[in-house]
Amino acid sequence: MSRRQPYRTGFHFQPKRNWMNDPNGPFFYKGWYHLFYQYNPEGAIWGNIIWGHAVSHDLVHWRYLEPALKTDHWYDIRGVWSGSATFLEDNTPVLVYTGWSNGTEQMQNLAFPEDPGDPLLRKWVKHPGNPILVTPDGYMSSQFRDPSTAWKGEDGLWRMIVGAFMNASFGSQGGVALLFKSSNFVAWNRTPTPLYWVQTTGMWECPDFFPVHVALMQGLETSAHGDQVKHVLKVSMDSWKHDYYSVGTYNRTTDTYKPEISSAMEPGIGLRYDYGKFYASKTFFDPARNRRILWGWVNESSSIADDVAKGWSSVMALPRGIWLDPGASNVLIQWPIDEILTLRQDEVTLRDVRLAPGSTLELSDVRGVQLDIEVLFAMPELDKRNDLSDEDDVDLVYDLGSVRCKELASGVVSRSQSKEFGPFGLYVLASEDTEERTAVFFHLVHFRNFGWQGLICSDQSNSTLAEDADKTTYGSYVHVAEGDQALSLRVLVDHSIVESFAQGGRTVVTSRVYPQFLAHNRASAAARMFLFNDAAAEVVVKSITVWHMDDIKRRNL
Ligand code: FRU
Repeated sequence: MSRRQPYRTGFHFQPKRNWMNDPNGPFFYKGWYHLFYQYNPEGAIWGNIIWGHAVSHDLVHWRYLEPALKTDHWYDIRGVWSGSATFLEDNTPVLVYTGWSNGTEQMQNLAFPEDPGDPLLRKWVKHPGNPILVTPDGYMSSQFRDPSTAWKGEDGLWRMIVGAFMNASFGSQGGVALLFKSSNFVAWNRTPTPLYWVQTTGMWECPDFFPVHVALMQGLETSAHGDQVKHVLKVSMDSWKHDYYSVGTYNRTTDTYKPEISSAMEPGIGLRYDYGKFYASKTFFDPARNRRILWGWVNESSSIADDVAKGWSSVMALPRGIWLDPGASNVLIQWPIDEILTLRQDEVTLRDVRLAPGSTLELSDVRGVQLDIEVLFAMPELDKRNDLSDEDDVDLVYDLGSVRCKELASGVVSRSQSKEFGPFGLYVLASEDTEERTAVFFHLVHFRNFGWQGLICSDQSNSTLAEDADKTTYGSYVHVAEGDQALSLRVLVDHSIVESFAQGGRTVVTSRVYPQFLAHNRASAAARMFLFNDAAAEVVVKSITVWHMDDIKRRNL
């Protein structure tokens, strides 16, 4: 596959070719980070799913290995679906995954390393007792999948959750994280009560359940507990294709979970990791650096015909560190891992740039399709009167931010200027005349109960002249604290992916874009970036720094 393909990334993980979806069973072992992923060895669309396998010393540069798990037993002959890794007492990792059987049923299975002495763990042996879990009575065998990493409870027994759907026969319907217990990791019993479930949601895919420290950025091993520990439950909502999480309390005696939900969140579920494209994610604890790392799958927004033509589909988002926001007890911070800083080159910095209302400013020293951008906007002078609120003031709901972003992208701004400020931000992957451009911008909105809050939007509507790409505008609110002096934005651009982190990673938006001018010659030199201000008053850019990002190495081992 030629690196000259315009939309193939330079510093993200993706297989050499073909289709990829969920990250599976990531872990660190004997000096290597392991990443498995849902992979179709035969083409660029979903199907024939097995576990691809790659390893890295730094989560940046990757070595491709032979697939770890293939479809070779009756219980997984139609597909080796998603799952997780757990370290047993003797420190060997075991994989638990969903097999799609010859009878089109979903069942859970185990695989062990053939040689735990091999740091690369190239060969995996499926357990002779597979399947270790079949669909419980009353549940549908087409909706029972994606086992989590296991943790140990108060009684010393292992626990893991599996995603499922409770149908009408239970009296009420909803997505559910079924909980199973085991003393030996092979024989599992379902607990009478699920860990958690939410009425009105659809099937829960890829549930993830992990502890976070209430005060420290450092990550915790999955079985950790104590009075400084809260728990995060993340589920991938099959019906909406978004990953939702909540922070809450895990009761180790009753084995139940209680989320801390506020009115800004989706009822019973919480917030999204990412308000753009990001799905079927999974975290792991990295003992080498005492942190928890989040991997997520970013699908294409191009047509299937385009995917087939380019011979591949999907990338992994950059791995993100994840920890509790010290300023908000039920919000997580996500931030690209430090290791990617080694890819930064050719720094360009501008300070104290004044953007007049309605102006656009090209950063003429910056060209390229692989960029890391950090911007600090001075907090605009906003009206501090408390009589700003009037009857039509609505509650801040994170999931509704995208509606406002779409209105802004299409130029429909219905609200009075005294209660809004913006939009202002960046154009990236822009053609010379900005006919093609992806806009990442802030817009400030006043709420009766929350004061001034930020909206962070990624507007794809002008990202390409191609008509068959999905150009949906994404976005959400980002908390702006009373004393915040600046609005911060970090944007990572890599050919066809744009990842935007607002206010230090409080809100994240990832998008996929396919500017047509990139398909022309010397595209990298042609891709421009701009600052813009469409607000009614001046915007001051305290500083903007842009680095070119080097290519990563992705090789066979
Ligand atoms: C999520 C998912 C999982 C399933 C896998 C199959 O994207 O649908 O629920 O295990 O993908 O590839």
